[in-house]
Amino acid sequence: MYDWFLGGTQNWAVDREFGRKVERVWPHIRIVAKQNRQFMNRVVRHALDAGIRQFVDLGSGEPTIGNVHEVVRRHLPRGQRARVAYVDYEPISVVHSTAMLDQDRAQDWATVAQHDLRDVPGVLADRDIRRLIDFSKPVCLLMIAVLHFLGDDDRPGDLVRAYRDELAPGSWLGLSHIASDEAEPVGKIQIERFGEAYQKTTNPLWVRDREEIEGWFDGWELVRPGFVHLPDWRPERRVTETEAEGRPFAWCGVGEKH
Ligand SMILES: C[S@@+](CC[C@H](N)C(=O)[O-])C[C@H]1O[C@@H](n2cnc3c(N)ncnc32)[C@H](O)[C@@H]1O
Repeated sequence: MYDWFLGGTQNWAVDREFGRKVERVWPHIRIVAKQNRQFMNRVVRHALDAGIRQFVDLGSGEPTIGNVHEVVRRHLPRGQRARVAYVDYEPISVVHSTAMLDQDRAQDWATVAQHDLRDVPGVLADRDIRRLIDFSKPVCLLMIAVLHFLGDDDRPGDLVRAYRDELAPGSWLGLSHIASDEAEPVGKIQIERFGEAYQKTTNPLWVRDREEIEGWFDGWELVRPGFVHLPDWRPERRVTETEAEGRPFAWCGVGEKH
């Protein structure tokens, strides 16, 4: 469904059907999905520019437009090596991501592992991930559009902290999350209904506000420009008026561990 929102081709009739329903409830979903993906793309490129060469993408999802290893491959300086580990708990996403890496002949420097990201020791001890990722060196940990699938009982803030404790200094955390605290009343209602639509699926979704999400960066130093809306994180062009309408519906930031 996410791929369909992004205008991709890796989606099925059932995704399109539910996607259309969701779009009626929350018309900004497409804009926000694109802005989210573009944010992830920029984080990966800036992490590479900062010298980070290892990426762990938690809740990586179905292969779609602009996957992390593709961004890395395009942006990595010639002659240098980087490593990418995708993690998702959906078996179908893992199967499709594995096929993508096979097709791209990227298996020697990228991998995909099936884990629930709430199992921090399980993710960090995974043999396939450890084959590629050296956790004693800086890692760019991505938690992009995934923590809103965790309920309060899962204590997302504690999870972020548990990962932070295991990462080397110089590591980055890139995080985005759906929100509505700065939306107009109509937008707030729309996103509430959007959340309700997801409650009936196997992937219920939680909308949170700035204060809570920003609090998860406790112990990380937010890199420039800090905790902002998706199009405002190191933008590369002017945000159009239509794009600006999606602005209040998500927060994002990148933190560095010292
Ligand atoms: C909306 S997609 C985001 C994909 C990608 N991170 C992005 O932002 O473009 C969310 C993904 O998170 C995965 N996910 C949700 N909860 C998870 C969990 N507890 N552990 C691992 N993956 C999870 C879902 O299976 C889905 O593939």
